[in-house]
Amino acid sequence: MIEILLVEDDYNARRAYAILLRSKGYAVEEAQNGQIALDKLKKQSFDLIITDLKMQPIDGMQVLKATKTYYETTEVIVITAFGSPEIGVEAMKFGAYDYITKPFDNDEFLILVKRAIEKGKMFQQVKFLQQELDEKYKFENIIGGSSPVMNKILKLVSQVATTDSTVLISGESGTGKELIAKAIHTNSLRKDKAMITVNCGSLPQNLLESELFGHVKGSFTGAIKDKKGLFQEADEGTLFLDEIGEIAPQIQASLLRFLQDGEIRRVGDNRIFRVNVRLIAATNKNLEEEVEKGNFREDLYYRLNVIPIHLPPLRERKEDIPLLIYHFLNYHTKKSNREKPAISPSAMSMLVDHQWYGNVRELGNFIERLIALNSKKIIEIKDLPFTNSKSIRDISERRNHNRSLTLSEMEKSLILETLEECNGNQKITAQQLDISTTTLWRKLKGYGIDVGEYKEA
Ligand SMILES: Nc1ncnc2c1ncn2[C@@H]1O[C@H](COP(=O)(O)OP(=O)(O)OP(=O)(O)O)[C@@H](O)[C@H]1O
Ligand SMILES: [Mg+2]
Repeated sequence: MIEILLVEDDYNARRAYAILLRSKGYAVEEAQNGQIALDKLKKQSFDLIITDLKMQPIDGMQVLKATKTYYETTEVIVITAFGSPEIGVEAMKFGAYDYITKPFDNDEFLILVKRAIEKGKMFQQVKFLQQELDEKYKFENIIGGSSPVMNKILKLVSQVATTDSTVLISGESGTGKELIAKAIHTNSLRKDKAMITVNCGSLPQNLLESELFGHVKGSFTGAIKDKKGLFQEADEGTLFLDEIGEIAPQIQASLLRFLQDGEIRRVGDNRIFRVNVRLIAATNKNLEEEVEKGNFREDLYYRLNVIPIHLPPLRERKEDIPLLIYHFLNYHTKKSNREKPAISPSAMSMLVDHQWYGNVRELGNFIERLIALNSKKIIEIKDLPFTNSKSIRDISERRNHNRSLTLSEMEKSLILETLEECNGNQKITAQQLDISTTTLWRKLKGYGIDVGEYKEA
């Protein structure tokens, strides 16, 4: 039921509006003056406030201001007397959704009411999502305080967040590299500016270069006009370069120039631009090895590696597993409106002993599945949905059946089978395998698998 607070000191007018609104199914709470309106607002929230402006001793403007102070997302429509539109405009400056002048047409009034309610709802949703995001990247919500290594990492993260130092995050897939990168940005002085994330591996390298640095018209076929790059878009904010180990030598050189001098040059342009960008990079490759192999510039590696953060695999910080399990249990039961189950000690110890090759992401997906498939009060070993999940773990089981295959051959065949089952849909395949789409993409590339062949005809 949509609840409207209607504030109008003229008895006849108020009755007429109330009857009209109720006839359309709205619940209407009436207030015969500003003071009563404020009292009601203190007690509860409404979906919409409609208020007359001229009232004694507390006028509609004060009702508007109080509403916007206590309920940022609630919209207010003000009713102005004939011949004084400027005061309606004034009200809009203080956040009123719109004003309508007496006497007004009923239909026009109802349309305005409907729109204002929709806008309020949308505003509320955006606000909620924003809060959820802010919540997620608060340090308290990054679980890891139980293990000494993560404890140290989280301390380091909170220290470097407020600096402008370049950070290089490494770790296996699913260990939380992106989460840490976002936490750094969210807790930095740049938090109100953009954070732009680029997956350096997912684009052809010449395209990546123009995405990052921009280009000028005519610099290559298809460059039909000048284009700003992401470095410029991220000015004053943070640029997160994921899969940094993938970048081609030419881009490595441009990146080095940025890190040395803060300067960038667009593709096909001689001019130099200065940008103020904080760089965070992540990789699941061992960059030092890549340097030794000659795939990655040593000077760039040192420039990137100012603050190195290595996230250890979950199996090397098992102390964190129980807390992560409670964290995901909380999250997924809340999300699906379920009671939170307890976990029997033996089931817990099995979960702690598990290898979790897909790391925190795999654990999170596992708990989500557990909640979806189960409504028991206590989860025991037999309830654990291990058999339903395909993952790297299955490979080790197969290995026992088929000793002639190497680990990577088995991984490849598992990927092929899953792709086939999922009709070539990479997102679902990645979910089934408990790996990120980036990791899947990397493996597909590595094994030379053409996804096109698996798409349904
Ligand atoms: N310490 C943690 N506390 C809470 N949630 C976590 C933690 N670490 C990771 N997660 C969650 O696990 C999931 C995977 O994390 P994230 O995407 O940051 O991993 P990644 O290292 O970037 O993986 P990939 O290399 O596959 O891209 C996300 O949903 C993230 O929120
Ligand atoms: Mg990632």
